[in-house]
Amino acid sequence: MLITGDMMIGIIGGTGMYEIVEKGTVIKSEVIKTPYGNSPEISIFELHGKEVVFMPRHAKNHTTPPHMIDYHTNICAFKKMGVERILATNAVGSLYENIGPGEILIPHDFLDFTKNRKKTLYDDLAVHIDVTHPYCPELRDLLIDSGKVVEKGVYVCTEGPRFETASEVEMFKNLGGTVVGMTGIPEVIFARELEICYASICTVSNYAASISPDKLTIDEVFEILEKKAKVLIKLISDTIAKMPEGYDCDCKTALNGAKVEIPIDDL
Ligand code: HPA
Repeated sequence: MLITGDMMIGIIGGTGMYEIVEKGTVIKSEVIKTPYGNSPEISIFELHGKEVVFMPRHAKNHTTPPHMIDYHTNICAFKKMGVERILATNAVGSLYENIGPGEILIPHDFLDFTKNRKKTLYDDLAVHIDVTHPYCPELRDLLIDSGKVVEKGVYVCTEGPRFETASEVEMFKNLGGTVVGMTGIPEVIFARELEICYASICTVSNYAASISPDKLTIDEVFEILEKKAKVLIKLISDTIAKMPEGYDCDCKTALNGAKVEIPIDDL
């Protein structure tokens, strides 16, 4: 599948992110078949001499809500294509007044408050993956070096699609959360289960419910995401430019000691 001969980098993006494809030289687009289903249309392009693939997380036109996204298919499709590193963008609400709309945060950890989503790619095997540090430290460092970002934070993932109550927001703060979103899990877990490096780039689109006294609307979320898309694209592009060939992280051996390995041909 590799065309340039280097490692393949995957981007999972939402609103406004598709334009990253236009930064590079487009090679083709395709739908990948997996045992779970067909992926959304994935664009393959070359950027800074590296092969990059872009997947719209919510499919076209943002029609799939976060709790209905087929995270299994999306991550398996990337694995099947040979993706070794993933940069994912996620919209979040901020739990703190000093981290405002428009800021970009690179989370170092998560709190999982999803309810009805698949938990693992290994339902028929006992695989207990280590997620002490769920986000690839090497990718995080590259992102932090490539733009003005909040360098760490705890991503709280809710089931959605509703926003949070004031008491939930208070609870998330008390538990150590920094930002809250709906799309980060199980994506990050599945990537680790397939030994793919994964980092999240969180765009703060709003203050979480009750942090700001105003009613929270999806319009303000989209407005900020559209406004910040260019900054995010530059951050991703500059990060890709700096990506080394080799690895300085443990993501590639995540299955060692966790139990079996799944042959890629069986995906
Ligand atoms: N809560 C949950 N998910 C979100 C939010 C929020 O405030 N903003 C963007 N995604």
